Amino acid sequence: MASDNVIEEKKQGQALLTEQKKGNSKKLFIESYGCQMNLNDSEIVASILSNEGFNTTNLLEEADLVLVNTCSIREKAEQTIRKRLQKYNAVKRINPMMKVGVLGCMAERLKEKFLEEEKIVDLVVGPDAYRDLPNLIKEVEDGRDAVNVILSKDETYGDVSPVRLNSNGVSAFVSITRGCDNMCTFCVVPFTRGRERSRDPQSIIKEIHDLVDTNYKEITLLGQNVDSYLWYGGGLKKDFKKASTIAQETAVDFSQLLEMCANQFPKTRFRFSTSNPQDMSLDVLHTMAKHKNICRYIHLPVQSGSTKVLKAMNRQHTREEYIELVDNIREIVPDCALSQDIIAGFCGETEQDHQDTLTLMEYVKYDFGFMFAYSERPGTPAAKKMPDDVPMDVKKRRLTEIIELQQKHGLYRTQQFVGKTVEVLIEGESKKSDKHWKGRNSQNTVAVFEKENYKIGDFVLVKIEDCTSATLIGTAVGYSDNN
Ligand code: 5AD
Ligand code: SF4
Repeated sequence: MASDNVIEEKKQGQALLTEQKKGNSKKLFIESYGCQMNLNDSEIVASILSNEGFNTTNLLEEADLVLVNTCSIREKAEQTIRKRLQKYNAVKRINPMMKVGVLGCMAERLKEKFLEEEKIVDLVVGPDAYRDLPNLIKEVEDGRDAVNVILSKDETYGDVSPVRLNSNGVSAFVSITRGCDNMCTFCVVPFTRGRERSRDPQSIIKEIHDLVDTNYKEITLLGQNVDSYLWYGGGLKKDFKKASTIAQETAVDFSQLLEMCANQFPKTRFRFSTSNPQDMSLDVLHTMAKHKNICRYIHLPVQSGSTKVLKAMNRQHTREEYIELVDNIREIVPDCALSQDIIAGFCGETEQDHQDTLTLMEYVKYDFGFMFAYSERPGTPAAKKMPDDVPMDVKKRRLTEIIELQQKHGLYRTQQFVGKTVEVLIEGESKKSDKHWKGRNSQNTVAVFEKENYKIGDFVLVKIEDCTSATLIGTAVGYSDNN
C-alpha cells in the first residue's frame, strides 16, 4: 500500500478551532483514525460543513454533531472505533440532542449494518459521499437515519479548500489521488475507497499556492499510490486507454506533477506518500535528483521479502525487482532514506519466507518501518480464498523479530548523521523539553536542538552530535539559505 504511516490504533487528531466563520452557530466535533488520507478527508468535511453553519469544537460535550472518520485496515482499528462509540454513548446521555455520524472506511465496509450494530449511530457516510453531508444531516435532524456509501468514478474534492485541523502551520497534506486499483489480496482499501482516480493538477497547484501564501513550508502529496497519478481530464485510471488521443497525449503523470510543484514553489519542501514499487518510475527518481526541494525520502512498502508470499499477496513485483528498484534509488538519489511496511505471518508464510523478509531488510537497512501482524479482513481475496494459517504466537514472534531488526537499522541510519550538519524545518516544541525545538531533515528523521532565537517555520542548519534509533540530537549553527 498505501496509506502513509497508518497508526490506526491511535487517534490522529481532534478538531481544533482553526478559523471561526462568523454567523456559524452549530458545533461540529470531528476526529480521525487511521491514515493521513483520513485526516485530510476530515479537513474536507470540516470545509463542506462550515458552509452549512458548523464551526469545529474540541469539546465533545458541547457538540451538536459528532463525526468519526474510521479505519478498517486491521481488526484492531475497528475495535478501537467501536470503543470510542461507547464514549459517545455516555456523552449522549447528558446531551440527548447530539447526533453521531461515522465516515470513512468502516462506514463504507459496514454500510446500513452499522446502524443496526451500533444504536448510537445516526449517519453513515462513505469516503466519496461527503458532498451529500448537508442533505444527510437534514434527514437526521428530521428524525430519520441517513446512509450514503456510493463510491464515485470521479470525485476528488478538487474544488474544496480543506479547513486545516490541528495544524502546526508549517506542514500540510494535499491529496492528489483517491482509491486504489492494486487489489493486494490482504487489503480492504480497494473495497472501501473504490477505484483509483487522480485530481486535476491545476486544483493541486492552487491548493499549494493558498498554503504557501499562508506560510506553510512543507507539503506532502498524498495518495494510496501516488506514483500511479495520471491526469487526463478526469475519470478512472483504469479508463485511461479509452480516452481520446489528445487526452492521452497531454496527460500529466506523477513525475511531471512533482516537477511542476518543485519548479513553481522553489522555497517549499515537497514530500509524497505512498509509493508502490511497481509504479515508481525512474523519471520520478531523476526529478527528485534534479530538485533540492523534493525531500530525500521514499516510503516504499514491501510487505514481504519472499517472492512466493508477494505473489500470494498479488503484489506486482518480485523480491529481485524490489531490490533492483532500491539499487536504482541508491544510484540516482544516493542520500535518499527509505521506509517500509511489512506484514508478518501472511497466509502460507513459512519460516523460510520469514527469513527472506529479514535478509531483504538487512540488504536495504530501512530508516523507518511500519510493521504489522496479518489481520484477516472480511471480503478481501485473501479472506475468501486463503486460510489464515500462521498461528498467532508465530505471527507475534516473527513480528517481534522484524521490529527488533528495524530498530537496529534505525539506529544504524541515525548514527550516519552524527558529525554532519543537516537542514531542519522547525515544526514545534520538542515533546521532552520546552527549551528545544523539533523538526525533520530532508530524510524525514526527527531532530531536536536548543531553541535559541529560532522560530517555528525556520529552515535551520543543525550540527548533529548524538542520536537515538529515531531521533537526532544537535545544535543549530545558523539559518539555511532556504529561508
Ligand atoms: N493486515 C495487516 N496489515 C495490513 N496492511 C494492510 N492490510 C493489512 C492487513 N489485512 C498494512 C500494509 C499496508 C499498511 C498501510 O497496512 O502493510 O501497507
Ligand atoms: Fe496499498 Fe495494496 Fe491496499 Fe492498494 S490494495 S491500498 S496498494 S495495500
